[in-house]
Amino acid sequence: MHRDAGPPISADTLMSPGAELVGNGMVRDVVRGGRLEGERTGDVAWILSSAGADRFIGEADLLVDLAHVLMLGRQGIVEPAHVRTLLGGLLALRDDGLPASVYDPAYEDVHAGIEAHLTAMVGEEAGGRLHVGRSRNDEVATCLRLRLRDELLALAGEVCELRRVLAGTASAHVETVMPGFTHLQPAQPTTLAHHLLAYAAAFERDTARLLDAYARTNRSPLGSAAFASTGYPLDREWTASRLGFSGVLENSMDAVSGRDFALEALSAAAVLMAGASRLADELVLWSSPLVGFVVLDDAYCSTSSIMPQKKNPDTMELVRAKASTVAGALAAALGIVKGLPQAYNRDLQELSPQLWRGIEETRRSIRVLAGAIGTARFRTGRMAEEAAAGGSTATELADTLVREFGLPFRTAHHVVARAVRDGKLDLAGLEAAAQASAGLSLVGASLDQARIDRALDPLVTVRVRTVMGGPAPDAVGAQLASAASRLARDRAFVEREEARVKARIDELLAEAREAAE
Ligand code: ARG
Repeated sequence: MHRDAGPPISADTLMSPGAELVGNGMVRDVVRGGRLEGERTGDVAWILSSAGADRFIGEADLLVDLAHVLMLGRQGIVEPAHVRTLLGGLLALRDDGLPASVYDPAYEDVHAGIEAHLTAMVGEEAGGRLHVGRSRNDEVATCLRLRLRDELLALAGEVCELRRVLAGTASAHVETVMPGFTHLQPAQPTTLAHHLLAYAAAFERDTARLLDAYARTNRSPLGSAAFASTGYPLDREWTASRLGFSGVLENSMDAVSGRDFALEALSAAAVLMAGASRLADELVLWSSPLVGFVVLDDAYCSTSSIMPQKKNPDTMELVRAKASTVAGALAAALGIVKGLPQAYNRDLQELSPQLWRGIEETRRSIRVLAGAIGTARFRTGRMAEEAAAGGSTATELADTLVREFGLPFRTAHHVVARAVRDGKLDLAGLEAAAQASAGLSLVGASLDQARIDRALDPLVTVRVRTVMGGPAPDAVGAQLASAASRLARDRAFVEREEARVKARIDELLAEAREAAE
């Protein structure tokens, strides 16, 4: 997986802006000097700093710096000797790994931290030219998009893997009958394959939503500067293409202040998690001995500190809860954005931890869910036992009266309903119900017990439901085939884009290395 824009996300780092770092390895803050007096410490440093969330974009920031400096050289804005020095310093920071001190909250953000470190390394004569024609406003927006695009591709890949696991499990259970529910009451029999493919279908749409968000994320704000662009002859399209973006965000005010790409990514994640939570919830329910449809692998369960017999489906309960966390991240992000006048406002900084947290929690949850399903043992005997319970084959019996005995459906519905109410879903019971509710004789029309038994067999009920998308084995076979071809298409897209982005970044680094010689 392409990871050039940064290390794996850890939600833990979001919680700590790194206050423990203050002053440790820090070099002179080149941004703050000049306009303002005094040091920021304590709560003030804490509230100003985006250091925690900036850990997600530190690597991306170096790439953005490299592209910007190369462009400044190409455009003749910075002379070749300074370009060489800047590139050499930036590449050294990349090759040695960014020092933890670039995330010192005393810098406010990693952009100031990197500029300060670079300047300390190469001197102000060159280092002081890094930020020509640029603002942290276009810089941070570019970094966020760079990292998020990788995260969206990776998350889409994880959802594809979940779809693969669901389809694989489904293909082994095309004839595994189980009860289907509405209102959590036994409704009609279906198969485990049909049930699992319902989730796979939703996850297909989630993949499409993530890839849609990817397409709108992968555009470059770089060169918009504070919001009104700049008087230097920047080549925005050149930096966009070098960074693997599909193009630029044209209006420079929109480019720095728009965060709808983040809202869209978070909302795709929140919708995905709502579906994941439904599936996790069913696995919790099915794990209960009262239902007994599934046994989760021990690796996905916890026990009790007091009750020795306990095996609890904790991971699935947590996936269910994480869906609320991600919905909360979306709600917070929407709230941060919705009242802001143009253009950049510092409120936007507070959106970043919500974004990374939402994406990270989603990605891990999807992986856990796929693992739990892939290793679960489905208790097909228990499912079969319950498949016809609660009169769930009554619809098929009524349909039989319609198809083979010519009754209007409503009449058949009443006849069977009455037999169910009387607790006599057999030949005598149906005959009595037909006489009483419709004044007709089914026995006279040659209904017999064998025909009733066939209608009440859950496998028969399932087999006749051959309509497109239904649970009949052939219909499920068709769903499996179409799901497989869409899965292959989505996987190919994700892999192609990951390879394309990686190739672009490799080219950028090679070009920077050559120019630094
Ligand atoms: N750390 C800031 C953020 O995350 C970067 C932009 C700061 N810009 C500014 N004008 N203070 O949004």
